[in-house]
Amino acid sequence: MNFLTGNMDVIEAILRRRSIRKFEDKKLKKEEVGELLRAARWTPSAGNTQPWEIIVVRDVDIKEKLAKASLEQDWMKKAPVILAICLNEDLAERNYGDRGIDLYGIQSTGALIENILLRATEMGLGACWVGSFDETQVRTFLSCEKEEDIRPVALVPVGHPKKIPETTPRRKLHTFTHVDGYGKKDLHDWKGLKKYLRKTRSETQKLIKSLKKK
Ligand SMILES: Cc1cc2nc3c(=O)[nH]c(=O)nc-3n(C[C@H](O)[C@H](O)[C@H](O)COP(=O)(O)O)c2cc1C
Repeated sequence: MNFLTGNMDVIEAILRRRSIRKFEDKKLKKEEVGELLRAARWTPSAGNTQPWEIIVVRDVDIKEKLAKASLEQDWMKKAPVILAICLNEDLAERNYGDRGIDLYGIQSTGALIENILLRATEMGLGACWVGSFDETQVRTFLSCEKEEDIRPVALVPVGHPKKIPETTPRRKLHTFTHVDGYGKKDLHDWKGLKKYLRKTRSETQKLIKSLKKK
């Protein structure tokens, strides 16, 4: 595969991505890790603050500790690499104060995580966004317990997927979209759109099925 240009269009990567929690016993190439970090680097952020830090964890002992701190999600330690995504609250706060920390910073790091997940998918890797962990313990294991401004927001174990799980269910579009104000109008009232969405729904199912066979 061509690491530099990629080989999948965006919708395919979005539809192919799954939370992967089972990994082959196989290391990641340095190019693979490099590509995930490259995708992360180009994430948008409020005022281009880029309020993130990424700790690439390869050490077996630290991975084990992180899995334990993640409410015993033992599967995590089998990943060859765990990317620990942290919010740099000092950077996030500049220009934007509390809103920078509580809202923009969280959004920006979230976007960064999704970039990583999609790029991993494109490269045939598997990853999972892990948010369930004891923050104090994770800080200690990542050696940032004294860095007040560095807040771990997610752990992303990455590796070669052992098995690709089925898709998880999604809410129907019209149950969470609104037109011209919350709860005002149903998307389905928009002439022509209902028909289009019905078509895309069945096309999406077909596409997901065909991607499974690839
Ligand atoms: C903020 C956030 C936190 C999550 N935390 C965990 C977690 O701690 N452990 C886990 O196994 N999956 C976690 N997930 C993954 C979700 O369970 C998963 O995305 C969801 O069930 C949909 O499945 P899919 O990713 O395969 O489409 C998290 C996802 C997000 C966005």
